[in-house]
Amino acid sequence: MSASTGEIKKVTTHKLREMKQNGEKISMLTAYDFSMAKLVDRAGIDVILVGDSASNVMAGHETTLPITLDQMIYHAGSVIRAVDRALVVVDLPFGSYQGNSKEALNSAIRVMKETGAHAVKMEGGSEIAESIERILKAGIPVMGHLGLTPQSIYKFGTYTVRAKEEAEAQKLKEDAKILEEAGCFSIVLEKIPAHLAREVSQSLEIPVIGIGAGDGVDGQVLVLHDMLGITTEFKPRFLRRYLELGAEIDRAVKQYVADVKSGDFPNAGEQY
Ligand code: KIV
Repeated sequence: MSASTGEIKKVTTHKLREMKQNGEKISMLTAYDFSMAKLVDRAGIDVILVGDSASNVMAGHETTLPITLDQMIYHAGSVIRAVDRALVVVDLPFGSYQGNSKEALNSAIRVMKETGAHAVKMEGGSEIAESIERILKAGIPVMGHLGLTPQSIYKFGTYTVRAKEEAEAQKLKEDAKILEEAGCFSIVLEKIPAHLAREVSQSLEIPVIGIGAGDGVDGQVLVLHDMLGITTEFKPRFLRRYLELGAEIDRAVKQYVADVKSGDFPNAGEQY
């Protein structure tokens, strides 16, 4: 909030760069729906990612591959309607940008036009640089994503730490530079060694946001449902659970079922 006007100061891509310059860490979480996005925005998050992890978390798919552009647009529109302050970034889903740069631009335009989001995120390095440049020329901010890129899970074969070997680490460093030079306003680094993420962050002007990439980066992102303890089977080392909401919901629903069955709910004061 701005003290003099009471107006909320929105987070912009420029603000994120300033935060890096000032050594202020950037906080980012996913959200996929209106209610959660409202809570997360009110609590003061800097960036909300409408991640294609919605494919896993919201739709129950095993991977992020099945979610469609129309479905991402539905989620992003719901989030945008809730948000007053945070910068909202939307994942371009698998199959909506890898074909060619025209397809990529059309997908990015649809996201911006139909949802009111502030930026898009895309997975990959040199191989998608041309698409990124084309999207940027249309005035759409792009966040990059390197390291463990879940849309390529069938190429990797596993969700283990990426870029442990020198060749892959070197390619990641080159890709990060390419993304910065192409004009990305920020990059997500997922599940790579902390020393490599620190080196990349120090070599770039743009903010680097990590997930499982250690403490040497400019900010952190987690999947909301993981850090709230709703998705309980997913327990990677990098995940800190801030709540056991799954257990709380279980307790509440069991109590409700018992109260309905026993006739305790509704009581005299809960009816007309
Ligand atoms: O889709 C997603 O949630 C993401 C984050 C894990 C960075 O891309």
